[in-house]
Amino acid sequence: MKGVYVEDVGAHEGSEVTVRGWVYNKRSSGKLQFILLRDGTGIIQCVAFKGNFSPEQFEALDRLTQESSVEITGKVRKDSRARGGYELDVTGFNIIQVTENYPITPKEHGTAFLMENRHLWLRSSRQHAILRIRHEVIKACRDYFDDLGFILVDTPIFTPNACEGTTTLFQTEYFDQTAYLTQSGQLYNEATAAAFGKVYCFGPTFRAERSKTRRHLMEFWMVEPEVAFATLDDIMDLAEGLICSVIERVLMRRKAELETLERNLAPLEGIARPFPRVSYDEAVEKMQKAGSEIQWGGDFGGGDETILSEQYTSPVMVHRYPAAVKAFYMQPDPVRQELALCVDMLAPEGYGEIIGGGERIHDHDLLLKRLKDHNLSTEPFQWYLDLRKYGTVPHAGFGMGIERVVSWICGLSHLREAIAFPRMLYRIYP
Ligand code: 4AD
Ligand code: MG
Repeated sequence: MKGVYVEDVGAHEGSEVTVRGWVYNKRSSGKLQFILLRDGTGIIQCVAFKGNFSPEQFEALDRLTQESSVEITGKVRKDSRARGGYELDVTGFNIIQVTENYPITPKEHGTAFLMENRHLWLRSSRQHAILRIRHEVIKACRDYFDDLGFILVDTPIFTPNACEGTTTLFQTEYFDQTAYLTQSGQLYNEATAAAFGKVYCFGPTFRAERSKTRRHLMEFWMVEPEVAFATLDDIMDLAEGLICSVIERVLMRRKAELETLERNLAPLEGIARPFPRVSYDEAVEKMQKAGSEIQWGGDFGGGDETILSEQYTSPVMVHRYPAAVKAFYMQPDPVRQELALCVDMLAPEGYGEIIGGGERIHDHDLLLKRLKDHNLSTEPFQWYLDLRKYGTVPHAGFGMGIERVVSWICGLSHLREAIAFPRMLYRIYP
């Protein structure tokens, strides 16, 4: 019989269906066996009555262990007390494998052990909920930009140059040349924005971050819009709209998953436009008043970001940082040249930076000067400089880290759970 997904069994009430999956849990009470079967779309209780099976068959069912793979056929019965609203009265089954010694049991395991078994840990309800929310976040980002008429143009992963600074580059061989894994699609987005007007890319990015924090991964996914003729204010509006759209969508479609995670919904439900916009100058003052050691001119540490974001219920957008702490491509503020026309969005509840972006230098000579000031070889940037020679226009964009946003929405204590197989400082397995 063709299989039916657990999430769809409700459409087959009263009929016989086959569900296929893995044993999530099991208990028996003499004449009855209750098998909780999960198939990725849901969990359904399958009830087997001894009288309907031969003794051997009933024993075989009794030997099923956690994560054994099985196909179960049965009649769909509505039961308001059941998980998902339906149960299956078992009429037949086909055991594919009886699992022995499944390492992850309902007892508490340490994080190191769970990370070592990440390939199996993904089956547990909490990880399952997080990754379904991640899926929703990605879909929400894509829909947001698609609905605004942006064109998705993906950018390369092998690149000849740095985008966010040379200290965090992963170097690799590229036949007889040296290449680097991309840190951001931005520079290529600037080329495609001049071709399509408004674009975004979405893909993995790589940073050799020697920091072992709960906010850093070596490989993370970023969605990056870039818009020709846009100003800093324009992209702050765009970023604010994106976050609202993502939050709304997850609240609407992934309530069950948020419940599984025991996420307090009030802080998410309380997010509203407009988000506060605070200049770097004001931000430093506020941080100092709240006890931070930060001095004007320094970049914010995770602790500083938390101090500031805790003062607001919506994400806060900090703009106009000193150019000296930012990347080479940042457009200077015409009023105060030492500042960059950039923005970082900090999430509430201590989750820190989720978005970074701003206006890009569009003047050829200034860009050339900045490359040299940053000791970057100009040769691999010739194509990038070309964009400033052939119809240059002011433009701006930003990047949003998917794992940071998922981590915040799910209320996770570490980014490692926001991606199926995290790459971390001391971990590349599994
Ligand atoms: O602020 P960043 O470095 O900005 C850029 O890469 C720009 N070129 C983007 C652009 O304007 N198109 O990174 C953007 C975002 C951060 O706000 C954060 O959410 C995430 O990427 N991010 C990381 N996420 C996980 N692990 C890391 N090591 C991250 N580094 C940055
Ligand atoms: Mg940043």
